[in-house]
Amino acid sequence: MDDAFIADPTDTLSVLDGPGAATHVDFGIPAAVLAELTHRCPLQCPYCSNPVELERSSAELTTEEWKKVMSELAEIGVLQFHFSGGEPTVRKDLTELVRHASSVGLYTNLITSAVLLDEARLRELSDAGLDHVQISFQGADAAVANRIAGFRDAHAKKLQVARWVRAAGLPLTVNAVMHRQNLDQLPEIIDMAVELGAARVEVANVQYYGWALKNRAALMPTIEQLDECERVVTEARKRLKGAMEIDFVLPDYYADRPKKCMGGWGRQFFNISPAGKVLPCHAAESITGLEFDSVRGNKSIAWIWQNSDAFQKYRGTGWMPEPCKSCELREVDWGGCRCQAFALTGDAGNTDPACSLSPLHDRIFKLAEKESIGDNRDFIYRNYAASTKRV
Ligand code: SF4
Ligand code: FES
Repeated sequence: MDDAFIADPTDTLSVLDGPGAATHVDFGIPAAVLAELTHRCPLQCPYCSNPVELERSSAELTTEEWKKVMSELAEIGVLQFHFSGGEPTVRKDLTELVRHASSVGLYTNLITSAVLLDEARLRELSDAGLDHVQISFQGADAAVANRIAGFRDAHAKKLQVARWVRAAGLPLTVNAVMHRQNLDQLPEIIDMAVELGAARVEVANVQYYGWALKNRAALMPTIEQLDECERVVTEARKRLKGAMEIDFVLPDYYADRPKKCMGGWGRQFFNISPAGKVLPCHAAESITGLEFDSVRGNKSIAWIWQNSDAFQKYRGTGWMPEPCKSCELREVDWGGCRCQAFALTGDAGNTDPACSLSPLHDRIFKLAEKESIGDNRDFIYRNYAASTKRV
């Protein structure tokens, strides 16, 4: 997935204007599931939400395995199926998968970088029952956007595909991942989304796990940039009320309290990895020591959701240490993000250091503030070799 990790996917997935958009129930099966069909992707965004250890294509679920998964999800009450990656359009069987999802009654959303799509394939997907398309943009200006994506001509291609999406009568969401090197383009990105006829724009500030953590020094915005970003979003929301919705995700480095990551571990969300592992969040495999059940095993998806060790481990409040354990917000943010706690403290069972009550907060977050005013602009691009290069 070349868009940034969204801290609370229920903010952006379940709000699509599809059937049953708001039907999730705590511990009941989530209404929306994110399927990472593949980790292959022609783009190399340095904040990608995929794990740093990318899955090889030989490990991916087959067409028949994905179809079985979709049928099972529809049977147990899932309503929305989000085709994601990597880049889901690298899968030659995507049309067949969309047709199957549609035939079992799932609302389908394609989360794509768009660069591999042409008009004929888009029509084919639409005819197969695709309901919605979300395209990621890396900026409003081609030079900046192409450099961030690590892909020549990506921006022009995205604009073209977005127009075909609208011409095919499909609703469009523009996903704009924001950081220090493109935040100054936010007003133009919003104008671009309006011009493209998008129904929604997601202004998603990078969250710093995995690839983004590797690139934090090149991506971390300054506090002034974030203040300006909030001002731009507030003004645009007023101006565009009724015409276009604007979702806004702040990076929690500048907040006092952490986000309710994933709506709480194992409460409202799961995703399925290219190899079929059922995960509480995109980054969960980065936590060493957790075992994830797979759809390839002999357990049902509903059983995995309800009972598997990985989901149970940080569900609810029983696992919490102090200061979360006795904090009055423990059932509000559910202790923040387990992956961030692991990445920054080495133990997923610690309080998320994004919380100012964490004993590690000041040390970690002061460092990030320093990075935000530094002059590091070089990216470690997201690819199998994890290379650094200038584009
Ligand atoms: Fe949330 Fe824990 Fe911080 Fe309380 S102490 S605000 S529960 S992260
Ligand atoms: Fe927050 Fe995994 S990214 S729980």
